[in-house]
Amino acid sequence: MYGVPMAKDFTDVAELCGVFDVNPGRARVFVEKVGVDMPIYEDFDKMIAETKPDYVIVTTVDAFHSDYIVRSLELGCNVITEKPMTTDEHKCRAILDAKEKYGKDVVVTFNYRFAPFKTKIKELLNDGVIGDIYSVHFEWMLDRVKKLGAHGTSYFRRWNARMAKSGGLLVHKSTHHFDLVNWWINQKPAKVSAFGKLNLYGAKHALYPNTTRCCECKYAKECVFSYELTPIEVEYYKNNEKFDGYWKDKCVFADDIDIYDTMAVNVEYDGGAVMSYCLNATTPYEGWKIVINGSKGRLEATEYETGFQARRPDDVVKIFDLNDNVTEYHVTRGGGDHGGGDQRIREMIFRENIPDPLGHKAGTMDGAYSILVGVAANKSIKEGKIISIDDLLKG
Ligand SMILES: NC(=O)c1ccc[n+]([C@@H]2O[C@H](COP(=O)([O-])OP(=O)(O)OC[C@H]3O[C@@H](n4cnc5c(N)ncnc54)[C@H](O)[C@@H]3O)[C@@H](O)[C@H]2O)c1
Repeated sequence: MYGVPMAKDFTDVAELCGVFDVNPGRARVFVEKVGVDMPIYEDFDKMIAETKPDYVIVTTVDAFHSDYIVRSLELGCNVITEKPMTTDEHKCRAILDAKEKYGKDVVVTFNYRFAPFKTKIKELLNDGVIGDIYSVHFEWMLDRVKKLGAHGTSYFRRWNARMAKSGGLLVHKSTHHFDLVNWWINQKPAKVSAFGKLNLYGAKHALYPNTTRCCECKYAKECVFSYELTPIEVEYYKNNEKFDGYWKDKCVFADDIDIYDTMAVNVEYDGGAVMSYCLNATTPYEGWKIVINGSKGRLEATEYETGFQARRPDDVVKIFDLNDNVTEYHVTRGGGDHGGGDQRIREMIFRENIPDPLGHKAGTMDGAYSILVGVAANKSIKEGKIISIDDLLKG
């Protein structure tokens, strides 16, 4: 996302000056792949003191983002952080406090916003084509089909499957989706209720006994979820397991999996809209469907990311007015990662003076409101209550 493009496309405006990772072997592979001669550090503060960067780019495990964001701000650096900004309300408040105290820049890289199809929806809603927003119905699917990549299953093979590391999929993954809705409808989430289930993965659903990891599993040939590490994953991860024991092919039936694979969330927004949202990591194909109802009509949009339906050349947004008319907007499918969003967000981050009329660039409050819906949803699932975002935000 950052290393190779910075070394290739942004040398006129950006310079990589150092890398820190708890796994020095992986940091070494990163430096080799990027092809820039830069020092590797095993001490974060030392890296900042010696390299004096303008920006720190935080791409570590979700639950540790806040440690590096807050420390970077304390040490006088601006921050670019991967999503989710963080994983719970306490860390969120620590980031907001540090941002306020040290007055530095924090960019949260919501690359989904930058994909042309999602941008089109923002444009239409901003233009008021369906008027005031009354309700949102949003479904996101993460697939489990091996030949399609089984992206949904992949979250259950490593740290993402532990609530303490990722906040579960309602934080780790849905932060993108909740951010899109907050941005699209221009309202803030206020109250949340939710349900969550683990239907397919985890020890309770194990298809085979004594499972550890795919590359050592005697059931690998027959297991529908077995996974073979790719050559680049072997280089980055398997070859460096001696440093931290991090497996990227852990069994999806491991007994420490404590996140959900099936989730339903209701949200009430401060501007009056309500949303019903579902996330499912067990589906036959990947993609999403949204309906937004407003005072002047209705928007419907679908994007298929895997499976035969993903072979279409464009994605379509339909606007229904109140006179039985429908207008279709066809958006050519973006080239590049995340529907063309990654290249566009890099331009916005690294180059100055890029016009931003739709407010694509996201900061700490966007990061906060998008994760807090997921944090509130997890709390609601656990406690069986409706959770107020304001209470989480203010503590
Ligand atoms: N925006 C997107 O579309 C997108 C896509 C994928 C991942 N991400 C985000 O990028 C981040 C990294 O994800 P990934 O899949 O590359 O994870 P990864 O596990 O492959 O890499 C994480 C790295 O962090 C290192 N690390 C672990 N604990 C650390 C600590 N305490 N301090 C410093 N380094 C530590 C690990 O050694 C590893 O090299 C996550 O926050 C994830 O949510 C975003």
